[in-house]
Amino acid sequence: MTQVIELTGVTKRYDSGGTPALGPLDLGVAQGEALAVTGPSGSGKSTLLNLVAGLDKPTEGAVTVAGQRIDRLSEHELARFRRARIGMVFQFFNLLDDLTVTDNIQLPAQLTGTARRKTAARATELMELLGIARHAHVYPGQLSGGERQRVAVARALVNRPALLLADEPTGALDTASGHDVRELLVDLHRGGQTVVLVTHDMTLAEACASRTIQLVDGHLTLDSCAEPVR
Ligand SMILES: Nc1ncnc2c1ncn2[C@@H]1O[C@H](COP(=O)(O)OP(=O)(O)OP(=O)(O)O)[C@@H](O)[C@H]1O
Ligand SMILES: [Mg+2]
Repeated sequence: MTQVIELTGVTKRYDSGGTPALGPLDLGVAQGEALAVTGPSGSGKSTLLNLVAGLDKPTEGAVTVAGQRIDRLSEHELARFRRARIGMVFQFFNLLDDLTVTDNIQLPAQLTGTARRKTAARATELMELLGIARHAHVYPGQLSGGERQRVAVARALVNRPALLLADEPTGALDTASGHDVRELLVDLHRGGQTVVLVTHDMTLAEACASRTIQLVDGHLTLDSCAEPVR
């Protein structure tokens, strides 16, 4: 099975000495898997996601994503890699408030130099798929939290990323909107998208994920796919 993520002997320290915020950790995620990363506050979930996204580098170990050893890339190469291969969704959406919904969604495709017509067609397709087509020309400030998160998901998917990463994507949403985003993630996983989802919410993890891991103090304490320890 093709591995989309392969972490080998990964450790992350924010200060020299002391205990690492993460690891040492070995972790593989196969193509098409939907992995939920759970664990208490401060256990290293966002640290793990940031390493996989290439937003930060490990102190030790190898991080391979979509076949690329990303811990060895320069900042410039990393930025290009991220734009082309990774889609990210955050708790607070991170949309650009002075761009319309359509322009927000198209932005990552424009940054990778995709032809204008192709980009427009892809954005339209995603807005229809995610039920936000009627908001195409409004600004994020005019939308509900759930609608904004759909826009953020569409933006994350515009370049057909090998990997969709989501850090607490329902954390800022009311129950109904959270439910909608949950259904959306389930659909994306069914469609074959590889997803890594960080969440405190076990209901979300159980609904969306084909596999759940738990971190405590930077260590893997549970992996629903692992052989039981005897
Ligand atoms: N940029 C940073 N500089 C220094 N320490 C950091 C930094 N980012 C995280 N840490 C520390 O690393 C540990 C893991 O943090 P991380 O943000 O990965 O936890 P988390 O599991 O995502 O928590 P939460 O559920 O609260 O979001 C914590 O002890 C945190 O204080
Ligand atoms: Mg976090």
